[in-house]
Amino acid sequence: MELELRNVELRAGDKLKVEGTVLEDADRFQIDLGCNSEDLSLHFNPRFHDDTDGRVIVCNSKCDGCWGSEQREAHNPFHRGEHVKVTVKVMEAGFEVELPGGQEIHFPDRRGLDTLTYVRVREPCGQKGNLEV
Ligand code: GAL
Repeated sequence: MELELRNVELRAGDKLKVEGTVLEDADRFQIDLGCNSEDLSLHFNPRFHDDTDGRVIVCNSKCDGCWGSEQREAHNPFHRGEHVKVTVKVMEAGFEVELPGGQEIHFPDRRGLDTLTYVRVREPCGQKGNLEV
């Protein structure tokens, strides 16, 4: 399942809310914000079967198609088959991601994009999902 939005205008002070049900057989899902798929200020990527850490949330940025260094959060409150709500707050200095259970993840703005014009929500697997922005 993939939802891609272009010509969005998100700036410091804005919030993006994503809500839906994680597929039963999902390995991971992701919320990407930036200016296109190769230039991301935030890649927010909860994983259920990461090779190194198993259940983990990976955050990263991407510049001209190259990933930056990963920030890994060991506590992943998401579960497959569950309804989830995620709120991403855009701030001058970075992002604050509100997760189920009140947990917050902070990720710095490494790209310095004034306006985020691209949003992608993706659950890479064969089935149709229902995550919505
Ligand atoms: C890679 C993965 C990408 C992205 C990136 C984040 O290993 O293939 O989809 O999650 O890590 O650093």
